[in-house]
Amino acid sequence: MVSSAASSMSAAVFEAPVDALIAQQEQLFLRRQPRSTELIAEAGEHLAGAATSNWQIAEPQAVWLSHGEGSKVYDVDGNEYVDMHGGYGAAIAGHAHPAIVTAVSDRVRRGTHFAQPTEDAIWIAGELSRRFDLPLWRFANSGTEATMDAVHLARALTGRDLIIKVEGCYHGHHDSVQVSVLPEADEVGPRDAPNPVPGNTGIPAAIRDLVIVVPFNDAGAVARALAEYRGQVAAMILEPVMMNAGIIAPEDGYLEVVRDLVHGEGTLLIYDEVKTGFTTGPGGITGRSGVVPDMVCLAKALGGGIAVAAIGGTTTVMSAIADGRYEQVGTFNGNPLAMAATRATLTEVLTPESYAHLDELATRLRTALEATIARHGFGWHVVTAGAKGCVTFRSEPVREFRDFLKIDARLGHLHWLVQHNGGVFLPPWGKVEQWLLSVQHNSDDVDRFAANFARFAKALSRLPAESAS
Ligand SMILES: Cc1ncc(COP(=O)(O)O)c(C=O)c1O
Repeated sequence: MVSSAASSMSAAVFEAPVDALIAQQEQLFLRRQPRSTELIAEAGEHLAGAATSNWQIAEPQAVWLSHGEGSKVYDVDGNEYVDMHGGYGAAIAGHAHPAIVTAVSDRVRRGTHFAQPTEDAIWIAGELSRRFDLPLWRFANSGTEATMDAVHLARALTGRDLIIKVEGCYHGHHDSVQVSVLPEADEVGPRDAPNPVPGNTGIPAAIRDLVIVVPFNDAGAVARALAEYRGQVAAMILEPVMMNAGIIAPEDGYLEVVRDLVHGEGTLLIYDEVKTGFTTGPGGITGRSGVVPDMVCLAKALGGGIAVAAIGGTTTVMSAIADGRYEQVGTFNGNPLAMAATRATLTEVLTPESYAHLDELATRLRTALEATIARHGFGWHVVTAGAKGCVTFRSEPVREFRDFLKIDARLGHLHWLVQHNGGVFLPPWGKVEQWLLSVQHNSDDVDRFAANFARFAKALSRLPAESAS
């Protein structure tokens, strides 16, 4: 499901001072982007923090974009980038994909919002049922809304308040799940009883205390939590492949055992497939693993670049919506614009041929990166899951969030800077995020990434320049 490989050679000792390389790359970054610097100064007057989401603020500064086309995006200074940021995992269609342009333009001319259902919703719900093996669906507008509804539904159905959450998983910015998302090493507490650490300010302690935190890939910890809080746990929510701490794959059998454990205690299982949903395959990890949860949350890539989300569930779960015991609502739910874009994405973008193309590109990129890693004797791992991937800058395996905490964050940041200055746009959060390939990427695009990576590795290597090239 997820491929990982490490060089067998021992890790080289860095002779190049990493901080100095970062300073040098940051200077180059700023020199390339004077117009972004001007816009940030202008925006700061009325736009809080000079950005429209805190995650758009990168070090040394946010990059302001003008447009995107195909596999590329362009900044306001006219620099071109191969886009592997992918709008934090949403842009699997690439930019201005003809099928999306046609569907959205056609819909815009016929009205974009009624707060009444349109026929596309029926087709999409049917297609999602087929892909994710869950019979009933509802729509929302963001991943946050989808996981919020899923947690509410679980509480409504079970009459229980507690939830089990995996340390290091991110499920959006509503209170219930803003716990132990990216806690610091000195906050996490003992591994066998992790502290529930608020993931933001403004999270009431009373809500934080409804979350039982467990490590990933440890079914025993789930069993212990269920036993300790018998009859009180509404649901366990997790990313079935963790994608907010690099990429961490579930070990063989983990998802299956977890599903059986929670069901044994009348607890529901929620997969947050907001990131993995369509990027790892047509039916996400649900489809790939065959371990079907009670609820699946989707967003990001589903809308081909337009905001949309979906919650799918079993008949038992979704009956609470159908009969009104739980009110799943939202002014823009299933709005015709999002539905038109989603239908086009599912029919014309996320096809079997597209997945074959994405797999080919992912293999080409992984092979090139692994060759570079081996050449320099680093023990890093290339981890890919369909169109998503990252390099884990650590030689020991990463099975859970506490392993991830030990990765030197400076390497991820330096890699981001080198890629950016070399014309490849990755998500700014170096070690946390992954690349996304789109259906419009080609081999030249991934080769540009591989060439930048080779320069990055060479700069860090103690090998003489001629043998490292
Ligand atoms: C796994 C996961 N779930 C939920 C969310 C929240 O999605 P949104 O930002 O659309 O609210 C994210 C966002 O990155 C995510 O990665």
